[in-house]
Amino acid sequence: MEDFRRCLERQERERNERNRRADEINELQRQVDEQVVIAVVLQDEENQGRRRGSQVGRRRNVNRHRHSRGIVCGGVPSSGRSSPRERKRKSAASMKAVVITTPGGPEVLQLQEVEDPELKDNEVLIKVEATALNRADILQRKGMYPPPPGSSPYLGLECSGTIEAVGKQVSRWQVGDKVCALLSGGGYAEKVAVPAGQVLLAPPGVSLQDAASFPEVSCTVWSTVFMMSRLSAGETFLVHGGSSGIGTFAIQIAKYWGAKVFVTAGSKEKLAFCKNLGADVCINYKTEDFVARVKEETGGKGVDVILDIIGAEYFRRNLDSLSFDGRLFVIGTMGGAVTEIDLRVVLSKRLTIQAAGLRYRSPENKAAVVREVENNVWPAIVAGKVKPVVYKYFPLSEAAEAHRLMESSKHIGKILLLP
Ligand SMILES: NC(=O)c1ccc[n+]([C@@H]2O[C@H](COP(=O)([O-])OP(=O)(O)OC[C@H]3O[C@@H](n4cnc5c(N)ncnc54)[C@H](OP(=O)(O)O)[C@@H]3O)[C@@H](O)[C@H]2O)c1
Repeated sequence: MEDFRRCLERQERERNERNRRADEINELQRQVDEQVVIAVVLQDEENQGRRRGSQVGRRRNVNRHRHSRGIVCGGVPSSGRSSPRERKRKSAASMKAVVITTPGGPEVLQLQEVEDPELKDNEVLIKVEATALNRADILQRKGMYPPPPGSSPYLGLECSGTIEAVGKQVSRWQVGDKVCALLSGGGYAEKVAVPAGQVLLAPPGVSLQDAASFPEVSCTVWSTVFMMSRLSAGETFLVHGGSSGIGTFAIQIAKYWGAKVFVTAGSKEKLAFCKNLGADVCINYKTEDFVARVKEETGGKGVDVILDIIGAEYFRRNLDSLSFDGRLFVIGTMGGAVTEIDLRVVLSKRLTIQAAGLRYRSPENKAAVVREVENNVWPAIVAGKVKPVVYKYFPLSEAAEAHRLMESSKHIGKILLLP
């Protein structure tokens, strides 16, 4: 595990350097492409003897070409690097995807006809059976969480489906395989291209639709709570937001690995649901002080590991809830991102504080996490010890309605979209 962590850290440094270079190349490529597109448009007009040369006409044409390249998400750039000729050839193939017409509320999400994704040599093309919502989608919709460079401009961090095509360098997967995948974007569509290393076999015993509920939560929870915070059998584990997509999965996998699980949630119904999933100590954060309850339940000791989605608002209280040698892992900032820290608490209790996001990791880093998940989480799912928790299914055309539900926080577990 130590070697693996060092390997992940090295990959992270390499990724940062690669991303910086990729950004520069993308920007240059974008500028070159735009000039080529303008030149092609003008040439077309000349050929047809209707060159008017007005600035308005030029601008309109450039915008049309931009749109056909998928630059549609409120100014979020597409990854397209193909030549104008290649794009023209491929424009015949189209699919439906949910487009963010402009940053804003749920109503900006519209199902539109767009180009098929391009398949790179190390990727597979998946015909999407289902995709799942994540809180991050709401931020992206509002224009506050752009996709990483080179990723699809469309929403959707995970999917399930059937492999429709494989890139030249892909050996593990075949056309027709039923799979699910961790995506950097693009799940809210009929098809998505994804690096082969981010694909998992759909777990037997789970419907192909429901398999879409697993990639994001399993990769997030495994890479943080288990790979980094090293939660082990017999230890105590507190997960905030026990009824969330992340929480409902974390409860089950932590129980499977032999931990005692504490949760916070905001209602009796949600806490009852968490208890049914296996949670041992259920705390209503609206009516109880979770620090006091944790201390009471652990004989004043505190818990070994906390998975936190709230951030600043809970930071101090999380430190107070940890035992000696306790580990806090922050994966969300729903309660703010800026806070103060009294280092004496960290020093005296020998605490470890970590934070990480999944989406901006390199494909190699994600592939390493996915393989760990396949080895350590998939057996629990196949054995029926970890079950999908799906609150509601919506057709892809009702993505706006699905976002409203997530923002209301009435749901428990995952919300799925079906193309
Ligand atoms: N870093 C990463 O790689 C990564 C990956 C995936 C997700 N995340 C983060 O993980 C979080 C959960 O994501 P999700 O998609 O599972 O979201 P979700 O299903 O929408 O769940 C969020 C839940 O948080 C609960 N909550 C709100 N305020 C709370 C509080 N003060 N204390 C305890 N619970 C509270 C709400 O339920 P109540 O009714 O109980 O309030 C809500 O249902 C988000 O912040 C997301 O950004 C991070």
